Amino acid sequence: MSGGDGAGTVLPGRRPPSPQAGGRPSLTGRCRVPGDKAISHRAAILAALATGTSRVRGFSPAGDCRRTVEVLRGLGAKVELAEERAGPSLGPTLLVDGKGWEGLRPPAGPLDCGRSGTTMRLLAGVAAGLPFACVLTGDRQLLGRPMDRVAEPLRRMGAGVALRPGGLPPISVRGGALRGIEYRLPVASAQVKSCVLLAGLRAAGTTAVVEELPTRDHTERLLEAMGAPVRREPGRVSVSAGPLDPIDLVVPGDPSSAAPVVAAALLVPGSDVVVEDVGLNPGRVGFLRVLERMGAPVEVVSTSNGVEPAGAVRVHHGPLRGAGVQAAEVPSLIDELPLLGVLATQAEGVTEVRGASELRVKESDRISGLVVGLRALGARVEELPDGFVVVGPTPLRGGRCDARSDHRLAMAFTVAGLVAEGPVEVVGMEFVGDSFPGFEATLRALSGGGR
Ligand code: S3P
Repeated sequence: MSGGDGAGTVLPGRRPPSPQAGGRPSLTGRCRVPGDKAISHRAAILAALATGTSRVRGFSPAGDCRRTVEVLRGLGAKVELAEERAGPSLGPTLLVDGKGWEGLRPPAGPLDCGRSGTTMRLLAGVAAGLPFACVLTGDRQLLGRPMDRVAEPLRRMGAGVALRPGGLPPISVRGGALRGIEYRLPVASAQVKSCVLLAGLRAAGTTAVVEELPTRDHTERLLEAMGAPVRREPGRVSVSAGPLDPIDLVVPGDPSSAAPVVAAALLVPGSDVVVEDVGLNPGRVGFLRVLERMGAPVEVVSTSNGVEPAGAVRVHHGPLRGAGVQAAEVPSLIDELPLLGVLATQAEGVTEVRGASELRVKESDRISGLVVGLRALGARVEELPDGFVVVGPTPLRGGRCDARSDHRLAMAFTVAGLVAEGPVEVVGMEFVGDSFPGFEATLRALSGGGR
């Protein structure tokens, strides 16, 4: 059964949808969500740097990953995105005819990363290893996000990197002879870690990244699977130059896209949903861990695709209690924190999120955007410099929430709308496709509308 626009498929339900008391339809059945965005970016980039033909099934159809494909093409890589789905559940298939680093060519002009920070930061690392100059640019939103965090280590490795004042893009990279460094991450960022590791594939000697808090390790896993000389120790990963083998990969569903479906099922009475084949990388499952502490009825059945852990997540409606989230846990649920804020409005007690100031430099300032949006619906929520506090439960009323051109806020407010007493208007729904094309269709189909 189709989820409408294809990216979020809804499979036949295990039982017919039952209308919730009050008329709000419950969510029931099984679904899949688009392929993991973080893995898709990395798979496309590494396949372009490998020698040979790679195939990536279940590639994310997200707008952000399409930008990565376009930028790679702008560098002369042979990348084909076969839009027809490779099965009832998978997204497009990416085929890459990799010719190694030597196969890449100077771009005809600035490379447009759209709104995708991952595209810009990871490809800055690639650009540093290329023997020509590149300019990475993007739309207005991306041009306001900090890039000094990648410029600094790349300069230390010997690349010429220029930014606008304030450390903002466009980012001009003049690649060249790089030397390995040992880099301690000043912010817990998998994007920065991956940027340095990618440049390290072209550097003389060893390049090591040391991280205090673990961040998602998709780059490391793919490097290992593609035969790169990578060495992993707790809190430290190092790499040196070497050829990459092509890969045949099936990308699991994106846990950050499963999260709004899970949150919706938790909140709407009568719901019982299974999200199949979701990525369960330890660096990404913080949301599920926090839900456990909140008392959420969530079950996980694990599988693996050989490179990444995955599994099915079953969730049904149930009462929630407030929970605390501290800095150490933040990287493992950074993109799910707006949804956690929404869930907290319906949980008994206090939910406090600290150590999450990184939220302020995402596609929008997600702390401020979340607080303003939830208050418009009547929630009790306080803004902190590095997080937020929600006191629940509070009935939400209808209202208008501005997602500030941010896909994650748009989905979080949509979920809030499912339990609000009046209609919720979300401004900026068109940005949802940056990560989850088919989001609304997926929810509709689970609530019976797609049958
Ligand atoms: C990402 C890492 C996170 C996350 C972003 C994707 C990645 O950012 O918020 O959506 O693919 O590495 P940071 O690494 O900057 O925290």
